[in-house]
Formats: sequence, structure tokens, C-alpha cells
Amino acid sequence: MRTHYCGGVSAADIGNTVTLCGWAHRRRDHGGVIFIDLRDREGMMQVVVDPDTPGAFNLAEEVRSEFVLKVVGKVRPRPAGTENPNLPTGMVEVLTQTLEVLNPSLTPPFQIDDDTISENIRLQYRYLDLRREPMQKNLRLRYRVSKLMRDYLDTHGFMEVETPMLTRSTPEGARDYLVPSRVHDGMFYALPQSPQLFKQLLMVSGVDRYFQITKCFRDEDLRADRQPEFTQVDLETSFMGEEEIMGLVEGMIRDMMKRAQDIDLPAAFPRMTYAEAMNRYGSDKPDMRVTLEIVDVGDAMKDVAFKVFSGPANDPKGRVAALRIPGGAALSRSEIDGYTEFVKIYGAKGLAYIKVNDVSQLNEAGLQSPIVKNLSEAALRAVMERTGAQNGDLIFFGADRAKVVNDALGALRLKVGHEKGHLDGRAWAPLWVVDFPMFEYNEDENRWDALHHPFTAPKDGHEDWLATDPGKCLSKAYDMVLNGWEVGGGSVRIHKEAVQEKVFAALNIGEEERREKFGFLLDALQYGAPPHGGLAFGLDRLVTLMTGAESIRDVIAFPKTQRASCLMTNAPNVVDEKQLRELHIRLRNVNPADKAA
Ligand code: AMO
Ligand code: AMP
Repeated sequence: MRTHYCGGVSAADIGNTVTLCGWAHRRRDHGGVIFIDLRDREGMMQVVVDPDTPGAFNLAEEVRSEFVLKVVGKVRPRPAGTENPNLPTGMVEVLTQTLEVLNPSLTPPFQIDDDTISENIRLQYRYLDLRREPMQKNLRLRYRVSKLMRDYLDTHGFMEVETPMLTRSTPEGARDYLVPSRVHDGMFYALPQSPQLFKQLLMVSGVDRYFQITKCFRDEDLRADRQPEFTQVDLETSFMGEEEIMGLVEGMIRDMMKRAQDIDLPAAFPRMTYAEAMNRYGSDKPDMRVTLEIVDVGDAMKDVAFKVFSGPANDPKGRVAALRIPGGAALSRSEIDGYTEFVKIYGAKGLAYIKVNDVSQLNEAGLQSPIVKNLSEAALRAVMERTGAQNGDLIFFGADRAKVVNDALGALRLKVGHEKGHLDGRAWAPLWVVDFPMFEYNEDENRWDALHHPFTAPKDGHEDWLATDPGKCLSKAYDMVLNGWEVGGGSVRIHKEAVQEKVFAALNIGEEERREKFGFLLDALQYGAPPHGGLAFGLDRLVTLMTGAESIRDVIAFPKTQRASCLMTNAPNVVDEKQLRELHIRLRNVNPADKAA
């Protein structure tokens, strides 16, 4: 129907007749001449309709926002002084010869380029929201990113294999989405939380190098970087160790970001152990652009009068740590109160601080703080030395169970760092976090849980601790972190059944449960499973970072809300009684008000 995209017409086309199709973005009447900004996927073109073509002119008077038009006309330079250097097509316009309304439109609920519209309205009319230029750009970048990764993997001998969506529960640790079976009364499929088990089985099958760009489903509490269904670039390979796998996927990300956005990532991503990341940044996915660091001061607080510090300092599960804010003495009372409220989200009971006025006086004369009188000079000296405090700084403290301190100070570090500009100026800070513990102790249930998943291999030489001291056991797992987001994670897997059995024993997963849940994998491991490992990237997260969007919803065509619903289709929704009967399901005590909500 057309010769050019609206956004594809340029000064080189001056004098030519073109045919454009698109949406009436805006129509302006200018004393007898009508201007229509015609919009399509590639951009915008100013279309001029003048009364010399009365047929077109009369029609143009009827045109409203978002009408679909076909325009035949001649490209000409815009009159001097009316050019728009901000638009790629801003030097030219099209003088209409014929105009056709291909389809009118209802008045849209919002002006397409209005970026003040609430997200709920945008999600309800997602098909209109997606007409916006930023959304078109996001979709395009997303396609480009997955295409580049697919190309890279293809070049490196990886083969895409599809794995089932209707399957059994997989071990990523979230709640499953279940699908009732009609044929098998009372039985359910689970949607995959990841293709983890299948990709390992594909290695046993001799596929050697597998990848898949696929949906994963996890029923977990949603946040800005989480969706109930999200996309992984999932891969697995045989006969490669940690180093080779990390090198290969690092190459993929470097290559993809260079080609997609001309981003230069370092030739070798820095590495950090999990223990160091937790100690210095309170997080296993530290944003390395933020220059602030957390330091331990617990050993210096064991005997101080301030119980808030001496308690956790003497508790093996406790931590007392300090976060120095250079120049932070200038923070106002209300800013400090604001940060104190902020850390409470993470379970902190308070946020002690010291303003450093004169570091040479380790008492109330030099240090301004309600807690100084309860700390010994030795303790204060340790704090000043370890944090490297200078006059004019402020030092925040966290004292609690280590997890609370890490969560609270880790989050505070990011907040203050970004708000107060404690940044190193890099646009991109990739990092590998390695040497994860195999297990993490679940205090509530009094047992060890797998930190990654139960198929992760222990580090060489750590196997013996599986039975004796699981907490000491490190794994061959690695996470890729980019600007403080976990964009990918994976591990070398256990390929020997005997080791797998030991890990299950450490996790206190009994014989029966092993057989029942993972019997097929355990069987497969006994038929010549090759050494293998892999990783999965969160495509939505990667693209979100690259677009600078605030939420992964902005890079997903049809995302769900924080409450896991789709405002456009109204999913989830009620179903017919007949469907339920076929599925052998009777609803218990469903309150109609809950259903409507
Ligand atoms: P993991 O659970 O770490 O590993 O997931 C891999 C990556 O997927 C992304 N991701 C998410 N993105 C959006 N919404 C979510 N709810 C969500 N959950 C995870 C993250 C994460 O790094 N089978 C293993 C991989 C492996 O061991 O090979 C797995 O699924 O970016
Ligand atoms: P309090 O003795 O409770 O008045 O607290 C004195 C200071 O210590 C206040 O600034 C509190 O915000 C802070 N504080 C209290 N509990 C903690 C904690 N667990 N970690 C860090 N600071 C705390």
C-alpha cells in the first residue's frame, strides 16, 4: 500500500511522489491549510493538505486523532523557518494529492504521546500504549537483544531445543503455577519455573550445547524487576568447566551490548566472592558504580556500654557494621530521619550515626552523636580507622542479625549513593559473583536449603563437608551482576549420582521424596551423564537495564501488574462451572468480592 515509512522520508526524496500509511498523530488547522502529523512505526511525517485539493481537504477536516490514513503526495522542503531540527524528518513535508481514510478511530482515552498517563490506564489500553515511540523502541531493542544472543549462541554451536510447558514442579524455589488435568482426575501439571531439569537431561541425551529463549513461570511476590512469567535466555553445555562457561557467556553479553548499543564492557568482568560481596556491600548483587562501602566493626564493640552494639557483636549470628558517607555531616536531621525510616523496611530497629566534626577528638567534642558517650575511645578509634573517616563525614551503623544488617546497610548504601552522587561515573559495571555457599540455613524450618538449586556441584574438595559441615561447603555457582541487578545465574551441575545423593542428604530430602520428585533425573545421571553446566539470563532484566526503563513491565509487550493480573484481558478470571466440572474441581469458599478484586 505504501512506498515509504513516514519516518523513512528524507531530503533525498524531495520532488518525488510518495505514498504513506499511518495514524493521524495530530491535526492542526492553520488558516486554510491543514497539517497532519502522520505517524507509523518508523517515525512521523508532516502532511500538508491545502484547499487546492478540495477532496482531500474536506476529508482532512474530518480527520481526528488516531484515524488510519493513506496519503499520496509530493515531498518538498519545509518553508524556511518552519523546519524542525528535532525530528529526523523535520526538514521536509508531504504536500497531499490524495487522502484516504482507511479506518476512523474512537477518541482514544489518552493522547498517544502523553507520558503522564497512569500505568494502569496504559496497561488497560496496552495496544494504544505500545504505539508510543518509547515503547516501540523498547520492543525493537528487545527483539534485537534476543536476536544477537541467538546469533552468538548459534555461532558457538548451540542448538535451540524446546522443552515442555506442561510439566512437573521444578526446583527453583518459588511457588508453582499449576494446571489441572482433565484426563487425570485430581492431578496437575506445573508450568516450568525454568527448563533446569530438561536441559540437564538434554546433556545426558548428547545434545552437547543447548539454548532456549523461553518463558518461565514463578508465583512469587512481585517487584519492579520480577514478573510472574518472564523470559530466560537459557543455556547448558557439556564438557565445559566454570571458567569456560563464564568466559563464553561473558563474551555473549559483551558482544550483544556492543552490537546493540555500542556499549564497551571490560575485556574481563571483575570477579568477587559471595563472602566479600556480602561483607563490603551487604548484597550478593552489588552495584559497583556506588563508591560507598560497608565495614565490620563488631570486634571493636564487644565490650562497649552501648547494648545495641555489644549484643550483636557477641552473637555469632550478629553483625555490627559501619557505612561511611563522605561529606555526610551536612545531612539534615530530617534526611537522617528519612534514612532511619527507610532501613526499617529491611527490619532494622534503628540507624545509629556519628557526624565526624574533628576526627582527632574521639569524644563528644569531636564527634556529634547520641551514642558516642556509650562507646569507648578504642571502639571509636577502630571505627574511624576502618572507615577512613575524614572531618565532615557521617558514619551510619547497623547492629542486628547479620542478614538484617546486610539488607539494611546494603539498601542504604544504594539509596544514599544514588541520591547523594557517590558514584564512580561508569555507565556500566558488570561483575561476576562466585563461590556461593551450597546451602543457607533456614531458621524458621531448622534445616539447610539449597542457595541455588539442589543440582549445583560443590567446589572441588568441598564434597566431604556435605555430610559434616554443610555451611562450609561452597558451590560452583556464578551470578552475573550488572549495575546492581542479577541479570543471570548458573552453575556447574552434579553429574555423579553419588554426589547428588549426598546433597539430597544434606538438604534432608528423603529417599522417597527424591524418587518421587527427581527420580527421572537420578536415573538419567546413572546412564553416562557427561560433566555439564550452564546458566540463564533474565532477558527482561537485561533489556530493562539497556533501555533505562524503571520497571521490567516497560519492556514486555503484555505484562502483568504487581498483583499478577492483566488489565487488558482481565486475566485471571472466573471460568464456567462446566469447565470446572471437567477438571474435577470444586471451588471452596470463594468470596465473589475477592474474585472481582
Ligand atoms: P535463576 O532462578 O537465577 O536461575 O534465574 C535466571 C535469571 O532469570 C531472571 N529472573 C527473573 N526475571 C524476571 N522475573 C522473575 N520473576 C525472575 N526470576 C528470575 C534473573 C535470573 O538471574 N535454572 C537456573 C539457571 C541455571 O542454573 O542455569 C535459573 O532459573 O535475571
Ligand atoms: P536508642 O538507644 O534506642 O535510643 O538508640 C540510639 C541510636 O541507635 C539511635 O540513633 C537509633 O536509631 C540507633 N539504633 C537503635 N537500634 C539500632 C540497631 N539495631 N542498629 C543500628 N542503630 C540502632
